Amino acid sequence: MLKKICILVCLVLFAVLTATACNDISATISAIIPESTEIIDIEETQTPSPTPTLTPEIDTTAGPVSSPEATVNTTGTAGTDDPGATPGQYGPDDKLVAITFDDGPYEGVTDRILDVVEQYAADDVHVTFFVIGLQVVKYPGLVSRAAKLGCEIGNHTYHHKNLTKLSKEEMLSEVEDVSEMIMELTDTEPTLVRPPYGARDENVYATVQYPLILWDIDTLDWSTHDADSTVEAALKCEDGDIILMHDVHSDTADAFERIVPQLLEKGFKLVTVSQMFEAKNIPLEPGNSYRHAR
Ligand code: NI
Repeated sequence: MLKKICILVCLVLFAVLTATACNDISATISAIIPESTEIIDIEETQTPSPTPTLTPEIDTTAGPVSSPEATVNTTGTAGTDDPGATPGQYGPDDKLVAITFDDGPYEGVTDRILDVVEQYAADDVHVTFFVIGLQVVKYPGLVSRAAKLGCEIGNHTYHHKNLTKLSKEEMLSEVEDVSEMIMELTDTEPTLVRPPYGARDENVYATVQYPLILWDIDTLDWSTHDADSTVEAALKCEDGDIILMHDVHSDTADAFERIVPQLLEKGFKLVTVSQMFEAKNIPLEPGNSYRHAR
């Protein structure tokens, strides 16, 4: 009888032990499986997130120059090409003035200014345009036409931001993007930068490797929108002056139409900024700014 009880107890114990062992194994297996599936999940969710934050910056520098439009527009003026200035055409004794136009090009204004330049080709009338990249993208043909007429194209940065508030990298891209656009459109490397708002500091001088061209006659055309006062301001110029205007509003083109014959009448030669400084034997150097040539 005792033997029977012992065997029964042993059988029960065996059964209990086996059941516990099996539970342990299944527990360990279930512990492994969720972990492995979790890893797969993490890998899946990680893969489709690349680096989208970089693209906007790349976009702004990417397609600024649309050369097809440029070539279409340039061919229109092929017959009226002005070879521009011949080196040494002017001397230090010439009465010179450099009219400069900022913030363009704009259709309906820049083209009217160029019509006047063309009209006075016999008097070798030339001006300087400090263009912004945002506008060059819209009207590349106006930039090529200006260059073909012997006008100078200067760099007024891409977005017209205050350079003193930018990092070195931002500053360089603001300037270099526009220089590349001008190069592509005119086959000429720009040599002048006009900092937006005339704003500059030590960092700007150290970073922007171009001479900074300012002005000493501000016509305030952008603020008055009054051709009469723009004409009056411009006619106060003296030999070697740089005049500031903006090829943004039509009243500036109205004023320019009147300024040119009156300055010629007063014995001025209307030249580009580079022509004027060359004639006056004043070298234009990076790290410096210039208000006039004298
Ligand atoms: Ni400006």
